[in-house]
Amino acid sequence: MTKTVWIGDVQDGLHDGQTVELKGWVKRTRGSNKMRFIVLRDSTGDIQCVGKKDTIGEPAFEALKEALIESSVILNGTVNVDERSPGGHELVVETVEIVGPVDPERPFPINKEALDVVDEDGEPMPGGSEFLLNHRHLYLRTSRMTTMLKLRSSAFGAIHNYFRNEDFIEYQAPNFVAGAVEGGSTLFEVPYFGETAYLTQSWQLYAEAAMPALERLYTIAPSFRAEESRTRRHLTEFWHAEMEMAWASNDEIMAHGEGVVRHIARTLLDEREAELASIDRDLDLVARYADNPYPRMRYDEAVETLQGMGVDVKWGDDLDYSKEKVLTQDFDVPHFLTHYPKIAKPFYHRVDTEDEKYVLCHDLLAPEGYGEIIGGGERTWSEEEILRRLDEEGTPHEPYQFYIDTRAYGGVPHGGFGLGVDRVVSWLSGASHIREVIPFPRTSRRVTP
Ligand code: 4AD
Ligand code: MG
Repeated sequence: MTKTVWIGDVQDGLHDGQTVELKGWVKRTRGSNKMRFIVLRDSTGDIQCVGKKDTIGEPAFEALKEALIESSVILNGTVNVDERSPGGHELVVETVEIVGPVDPERPFPINKEALDVVDEDGEPMPGGSEFLLNHRHLYLRTSRMTTMLKLRSSAFGAIHNYFRNEDFIEYQAPNFVAGAVEGGSTLFEVPYFGETAYLTQSWQLYAEAAMPALERLYTIAPSFRAEESRTRRHLTEFWHAEMEMAWASNDEIMAHGEGVVRHIARTLLDEREAELASIDRDLDLVARYADNPYPRMRYDEAVETLQGMGVDVKWGDDLDYSKEKVLTQDFDVPHFLTHYPKIAKPFYHRVDTEDEKYVLCHDLLAPEGYGEIIGGGERTWSEEEILRRLDEEGTPHEPYQFYIDTRAYGGVPHGGFGLGVDRVVSWLSGASHIREVIPFPRTSRRVTP
């Protein structure tokens, strides 16, 4: 029996001269009444396959002709080294089996014309047209999207590896919750058996409850924000990598933020160099992000820099996307901004005892205009202080009673951060929009398909 092999291995020269079986989908097809060329793809690559009527006979040749774009087929044949073929190899077809045919009346709707769309400014907007968003379930198998999904997988793996190597325990929190973590304006309400629940904005408060048990914990889970802003970096459902750590200072937490981001960049280079190159990502930039330390800057300095650039921003504003975009355009590596004004941040941020106007927090801003990828810091940890911060904010205690309670029993200094995984993949891949890196993007304008 002929062995089924990966197309990627064939292109890597592992099966030169052998008779092999390939299972895949037709990417392109052309030819005459005597000879057909099919570009076959599987999840590992693609290869040109050639069938001559004279050698394979009429029925197999007819099958090759009928194998339309995106039909699934099994081809047997011999691997030829051929410099002229894309990838350097070609399959000389011997037998053809169509597994999942495509109806000629309903050809695969995503063609080159549909892929090459530009926005109002003439900039390419990969996958961003209404047509492609409506056909997302089919768009997933096009090469750019497939590449993004592989990069994404490597990023998830890198995050797990980083935290596990650093002795963090993976821990899960509920997604139905009773209160906000990051402010009420972006909470999704869910009817819950006659009551109202919310979709979680962050794992953090439930992780803090387990901090005295596990000390170092992390997760990768979806978070939800009823976020109306239509930017290149906002989803309503995004993947959130969060960590929480007992006894840790803002500086120690930042060191892990830097550590995990640099590890993701390094892993993409190690595992996905060809994929990054295939979407024209500058590998030197990714290497720079993997190899260099990330400087730290206080919020006040960032505001002064922005004011010096003529940006309309005043002390006390949280920095939104438009401002971070300007600030990070000229950064050569990610920068941490620390010590935001207390008035710009939620109650759980710990006040800086050296100057109570500030909190001991950080955001990590990615260069090239991408902006915030991490938010974190030290937590308000005494019961008395939490109650005071909630009252200052005018936030009711009730939904947070469990959180307040944990402080009554052996509170300790601690902290953590949340990293937007989709944002990190978007930045490291050089994507033009966050929707490029998640299979089915959820935004204020779309929950389908
Ligand atoms: O800065 P945020 O709101 O911080 C928190 O949720 C903290 N409770 C995390 C913690 O300390 N455990 O969100 C953290 C990160 C952001 O820096 C951003 O990368 C990402 O989550 N994020 C989003 N990503 C995509 N779409 C959105 N709407 C996002 N909102 C936040
Ligand atoms: Mg934030």
